[in-house]
Amino acid sequence: MLKPSVLKDLKKIVGPSHLYTSAEEMAVYSYDATQREATPWAVARPMSPREISEIVKLANQELFPVVPRGAGTGMSGGSVPVRGGLVLSLERMNRILEIDEENLVAVVEPGVVTGDLQNEVESRGLFYPPDPASSRFCTMGGNVAECAGGLRAVKYGVTKDYVLGLEVVLPTGEIITTGARTAKSVAGYDLTKLIVGSEGTLGIVTRITVKLLPLPESVRTLSAFFSDVSSAAGAASNIMKSRMLPRALEFVDQAALRAVESYLKEDLSRGAAAMLLVEVDGPPEATGRQADRIAEIMSRAGAIRVTKAETDADRERLWSARRAISPALYAIKPKKLNEDIVVPRSKIPEILNEIGMIAKKHELLIVNFGHAGDGNIHTNILLDEADRPRAETAVKEIFAATLRLGGSISGEHGIGLAKAAYLPMELGEEAIAAMKRIKRALDPNNILNPGKIFIEDH
Ligand code: MLT
Ligand code: ZN
Repeated sequence: MLKPSVLKDLKKIVGPSHLYTSAEEMAVYSYDATQREATPWAVARPMSPREISEIVKLANQELFPVVPRGAGTGMSGGSVPVRGGLVLSLERMNRILEIDEENLVAVVEPGVVTGDLQNEVESRGLFYPPDPASSRFCTMGGNVAECAGGLRAVKYGVTKDYVLGLEVVLPTGEIITTGARTAKSVAGYDLTKLIVGSEGTLGIVTRITVKLLPLPESVRTLSAFFSDVSSAAGAASNIMKSRMLPRALEFVDQAALRAVESYLKEDLSRGAAAMLLVEVDGPPEATGRQADRIAEIMSRAGAIRVTKAETDADRERLWSARRAISPALYAIKPKKLNEDIVVPRSKIPEILNEIGMIAKKHELLIVNFGHAGDGNIHTNILLDEADRPRAETAVKEIFAATLRLGGSISGEHGIGLAKAAYLPMELGEEAIAAMKRIKRALDPNNILNPGKIFIEDH
């Protein structure tokens, strides 16, 4: 609990109408997309780096946790206040501050919804490529905290590839800027890269400078359906071997297809066992040619039906279905463990095979979909509470197989609470100790988002 005097100070900092303490208000800030929940002691909605700095200084004096929060769409528990304390919601800091069309740079506050930034720059012929499936709701601050990936990473990379610089309130209250707004800068250590993906444990990001690209001239989207998962996985790997680089190459298995079809009340697949969704972009003469070649590769690999989206509405229909998979899975079972493994692309058929065997062995329903072009599969174990012990054993085995194939336990969702126990499987003791030394140096009182990434404190 926060002392009355602390609540009074917090009210003074953010203004009385931006400090919440009622049970109803706490509930709204208690969860993320993992279904994990913990009730905070209070919620503050600051409006400036100065206010945030005063809040964290107070937290260091009074020793209460501060948990930064964007839109709560995270997939690893990063914004869940597992040790209580103050949730610091960045929702009011939601302005696009600048779009510099000459230098291809945008500057935004952390509460800007990623899809709003995409739309704004696209209306000016520019492009912000990172595209998490939740782009219509998630915020840029959360994307930076988790280094979000998404649907176009296969060609364009992930959030860290676009962040040029940041303004950050450190856990001890200093306000610093990192990076530069130029195309290059090697002035000092790369603190930008340290903060991006640090899951709200090393600083609170208050301003984000990102690079933009010219909007590609044309886009072509194809869907292909297969009667078995291994032909779809084989087609995906043949596309990647073809020396073409699609901007999206997504894989959806049968259970995920059925779930999203019943969620959207639409029959996309007509009973198929797997789908690939592929998108290319560039000059129209190139994308037309590439779309034809990709259609041919998929047919040769055994696709039973390949369709090119002819209109924007067709494209939108396919992408809306893809984006809806994650929520749709809750219609099958009340709980899911949503894993985020990534393997070298060529190993996708192998890892899917291993996951299939693990599912069989433990009698679990495991659904796979995701960014095949990146080797990043969202392996979802759907469960009732009674299945949990078997599901947890299966997760461990899936991670072990992933690491054996040269992969990583998290491609884009982060470690947070969900994967903290498994981090030592991937990183050696010494690497974890080095990370903890960085955390301790920046946050000596461990006030900022404690209990995340590492199972034990520092
Ligand atoms: C996605 O690709 O749909 C997201 O990362 C969400 C998920 O994994 O469920
Ligand atoms: Zn994803």
